[in-house]
Amino acid sequence: MVKASIVGATGYTGEEIVKILTRHKGAKIVSLTAKIEQEVFIDDEFPELKHVAHIKCYPFEKEAAAADADVVFLALPHTISMKFAPFFLEQGKKVIDLSADYRLKKPGDYEKWYGCKHADEGNIQKAVYGLPELYEKEIKAAALIANPGCYPTSVILGLAPLLKSNLSGSDNFIVDSKTGIMGAGRKATLSFHFPECDGSVWAYKIGQHQHTPEMVQELARISGRKTNVLFTPHVVPSSRGILSTIYADVGKGIKLKEVVDIYTDFYEKSPFVRVYPEKKLPRTKDISANNFCDIGFGYNAESGKLVIVSTVDNLLKGAAGQAVQNMNIMFGFDQKEGLI
Ligand SMILES: NC(=O)c1ccc[n+]([C@@H]2O[C@H](COP(=O)([O-])OP(=O)(O)OC[C@H]3O[C@@H](n4cnc5c(N)ncnc54)[C@H](OP(=O)(O)O)[C@@H]3O)[C@@H](O)[C@H]2O)c1
Repeated sequence: MVKASIVGATGYTGEEIVKILTRHKGAKIVSLTAKIEQEVFIDDEFPELKHVAHIKCYPFEKEAAAADADVVFLALPHTISMKFAPFFLEQGKKVIDLSADYRLKKPGDYEKWYGCKHADEGNIQKAVYGLPELYEKEIKAAALIANPGCYPTSVILGLAPLLKSNLSGSDNFIVDSKTGIMGAGRKATLSFHFPECDGSVWAYKIGQHQHTPEMVQELARISGRKTNVLFTPHVVPSSRGILSTIYADVGKGIKLKEVVDIYTDFYEKSPFVRVYPEKKLPRTKDISANNFCDIGFGYNAESGKLVIVSTVDNLLKGAAGQAVQNMNIMFGFDQKEGLI
């Protein structure tokens, strides 16, 4: 049995990891912790876990969180994970960080986009970007996983096959993404109160969202060329799910069937990516509360633009599900264990 410790268990992604691990045949939870003053049963915190996980969650202390664990999930806000990851690594634990702290390879990028100096530069290069569809071999050997962001997961999976093919006519991409409210975490701010969100859709951080450099970095790594992304996220009045619409120049005379075939071949061995046939497009409903990424296509011959629609559940394939998929690879389980 792989023994798992979850730090940040009272948050949305922490709760999802608890749910997945309670049905995992090869893992058991040995520690739940969070920034709380008093211990609490996790099923009192999340009543949907009644009869599923009656486990105590304790105020976070790193020694206790590490004690019995083989793997530590850090479901923590960015800037907090990097304070504790080095300790767990020194203790010989595998670490899967759901925050952004180890995703950007250049410390200067981190400082620019996350507003503070990186506190653990030494481990940045050791961290493996945890996107199983692209880096399974590296994940298998990793001690530290930088679990990808939710928007980047949808966008990178949506573009990787195109970048690896000879169809892409440009390295400039426009990406519009829609997200549900849970993407902002469990502690509500004014913008995410029900009356503020109900019946309203809005764009935010146009070209300035902190996930932009992660997309640019990872897309350039795939193509081997400099890449530009104009990224506009939108909030929609829904709890969960991300739908990214990606515009790519492919020129005239492309057949959609050719695109579908390229993507189908690319993801042939990836259990969590579902490539849609021509004329069928993905919806967030179909990836809600599961670990799939669904991808479909449209093509406009006049503009020579391929439109790729990629959907993920922000909390699962965009966070906790992908984190457990990474754990499965690191510890030699079937990727699907606990997830399907
Ligand atoms: N939500 C998403 O869709 C999503 C998707 C992809 C990635 N992520 C990333 O995953 C991470 C967690 O996100 P989330 O949505 O689960 O956030 P969340 O709901 O706000 O939960 C954060 C958790 O971290 C705990 N925490 C905060 N500061 C702490 C500290 N100093 N020591 C110990 N525990 C601390 C909180 O405890 P208390 O509740 O007791 O304060 C809570 O359990 C973030 O980095 C986020 O960017 C989230």
